[in-house]
Amino acid sequence: MKVLVTGGAGFIGSHVVDLLSQTGYETVIVDNFLSGQRELVPPNIRLYEVDITSSQISDVFKKEKPDVVIHLAAQVDVSRSIKDPVWDAYQNILGTIRLLTCSHKYNVKKFIFSSSCAVYGEKDDISIKETSPIQPLSYYGISKFSSEMYIQAFNNLHQVPFTILRYANVYGPRQTPKGEGGVISIFFKKVINDKSPFIFGDGEQTRDFVYVKDVALANVLAINNGANEIFNIGSNTKTSINDLYKMITTIAKDIPAVYMPAREGDIRYSQLDNTKAASILGWQPSFDLQAGLSETFKYYKPK
Ligand SMILES: NC(=O)c1ccc[n+]([C@@H]2O[C@H](COP(=O)([O-])OP(=O)(O)OC[C@H]3O[C@@H](n4cnc5c(N)ncnc54)[C@H](O)[C@@H]3O)[C@@H](O)[C@H]2O)c1
Repeated sequence: MKVLVTGGAGFIGSHVVDLLSQTGYETVIVDNFLSGQRELVPPNIRLYEVDITSSQISDVFKKEKPDVVIHLAAQVDVSRSIKDPVWDAYQNILGTIRLLTCSHKYNVKKFIFSSSCAVYGEKDDISIKETSPIQPLSYYGISKFSSEMYIQAFNNLHQVPFTILRYANVYGPRQTPKGEGGVISIFFKKVINDKSPFIFGDGEQTRDFVYVKDVALANVLAINNGANEIFNIGSNTKTSINDLYKMITTIAKDIPAVYMPAREGDIRYSQLDNTKAASILGWQPSFDLQAGLSETFKYYKPK
């Protein structure tokens, strides 16, 4: 079975590609290196340096005829989406529509989409279910939810099967400080270099951190499970930024953080209920935060 991975040179995508190869899937990558890293592309994997928003993407489908598309390519920077909503929508919504059009034309059997907890927006201190109201606070959250709606419409109108995965804050080796969930990579990089990172607000805001290898597994499980369903992919555990920072300084080095005013638009609480993914996808996280942070530290610490 052939899997086309968009954004396969990125943080999460490169782990998805690794797991697909280990599991025996033939894998092809599409990436324009907007934020991807060339060194993350294994030499034995076919790479198309193509922008998903360009008409060239159709040639890739024509040549490769993939059975499955795992769509991770996106502009992932929430603040950039707020500065430039047109560009965000162009990359994230139009890019997804182009891939859906090709997936319909070339009879793709499963379209797996990387969505985000950003679609939910601000919620009370509860574990968020997939059925919770959608109230994105950023244009990025809107572009992810719009993509979800196109995916569902392509299924209704043209029977393109899909699975939508809404990730919590993903972390792990290969993450760069940019993007959605970069706080752990920022903290490690600063502390290792004897610098104090910033904590915005009182640090009591919570996040749900999920390890990147667990996220890669959810994508691979979605190839054969969870048709036409939406799943939260998170740890169902909330951790305050203060507690996270304590864990990081214990693992790496004890450097005091600097507290800054809260950032506009930052949500207070985040925790994703993952029971649906457990029962239908057969997925649950196998790395708790302590284990995932230790693995991540091995990657960042000076060799
Ligand atoms: N990291 C997180 O915590 C998180 C949380 C929720 C959702 N997501 C989603 O997961 C996916 C992967 O995110 P990531 O953290 O690995 O980010 P990343 O920036 O490392 O990966 C994105 C990849 O897509 C590529 N890309 C971007 N625009 C492209 C285009 N127009 N054409 C072709 N390639 C393009 C980039 O070069 C990069 O390799 C994204 O869709 C993101 O929105 C990430």
